[in-house]
Amino acid sequence: MPIDDFMNEMTQVTDTAAQNAANYDNAAAPQRAVPALPDAQTVTQVTHWTDKLFSFRITRPASMRFRSGEFVMIGLMGDPHPDTGKQKPLLRAYSIASPSWDDELEFYSIKVQDGPLTSKLQHIQPGDEVILRPKPVGTLVHDALLPGKRLWLFATGTGFAPFASLLRDPQTFEDYDEVIVTHTCRTVGELTYGAQLIEDIRSNEMLEELIGDGFATKLRYYPTTTREESPKMGRITALMRSGEVFDDLGVPPLSPENDRAMICGNMAFNLELKDLLEEYGLHEGANSAPREYVVEKAFLD
Ligand code: A2P
Repeated sequence: MPIDDFMNEMTQVTDTAAQNAANYDNAAAPQRAVPALPDAQTVTQVTHWTDKLFSFRITRPASMRFRSGEFVMIGLMGDPHPDTGKQKPLLRAYSIASPSWDDELEFYSIKVQDGPLTSKLQHIQPGDEVILRPKPVGTLVHDALLPGKRLWLFATGTGFAPFASLLRDPQTFEDYDEVIVTHTCRTVGELTYGAQLIEDIRSNEMLEELIGDGFATKLRYYPTTTREESPKMGRITALMRSGEVFDDLGVPPLSPENDRAMICGNMAFNLELKDLLEEYGLHEGANSAPREYVVEKAFLD
């Protein structure tokens, strides 16, 4: 099935999912005068996308600056120590999913039933507080890439989060002629957050005004699933090796002259794709030495 037809189908899937998500959305956040936690921020919105995935928005400290694609440490207070009763913050690295111009911060998370943090974090409600260490860092930033023609954003699962930030940043479309986002998940439901976001970006009037008419045609979306039937099945790495992704999108295989890439997913995926990009002749860049691709350094799952 052509990708455009797939997108139409995905839109129908996501319309229903967005409706479900909206039903889950909670009421407006009550105001709290005194923060009870160190570095406390207030939850403003929570959306449950599947039984394993949710996103949430929190207030943003007025002084906090970051580059789209960076991550921060966020969390909650841990359980009291059985002997001393003392509580320590339980923090994990989370990519910021919102763009740097947004007044609030957005995050996209898995729910692990016995996970120390996400078993609790999944129950947050608007008005609750979370801890945010406001020191953003990261490698998935434009500064770590040399200028190029085409930007590839390769994600699996919640690895889509930093791209949700970068895709809402005008610079992403100013710097490249074409931006290709691939997202591989086990099931169709796990694609919903990303698919919905792509739809929103395509009709985002502010981006259109900033970047110009037709900016949305620069954005190509290539979702695939591995464990549930969908129009495009298979790991992106396999689809690259077979050449199928290039045929589907009508673009040549990656080259160090034209292509730039960012990788964010589970550890095995990050490593495998890194090797593959090296085979195409691309080299890993860093803030201090920009090259042709970058990999997320925060471990996501
Ligand atoms: P698969 O179902 O074949 O393992 P997970 O939920 O385990 O983090 O995986 C998210 C997605 O990433 C799944 O679709 C999974 O495919 C895929 N994936 C896992 N490891 C790799 C890898 N080394 N290369 C490409 N895709 C991978």
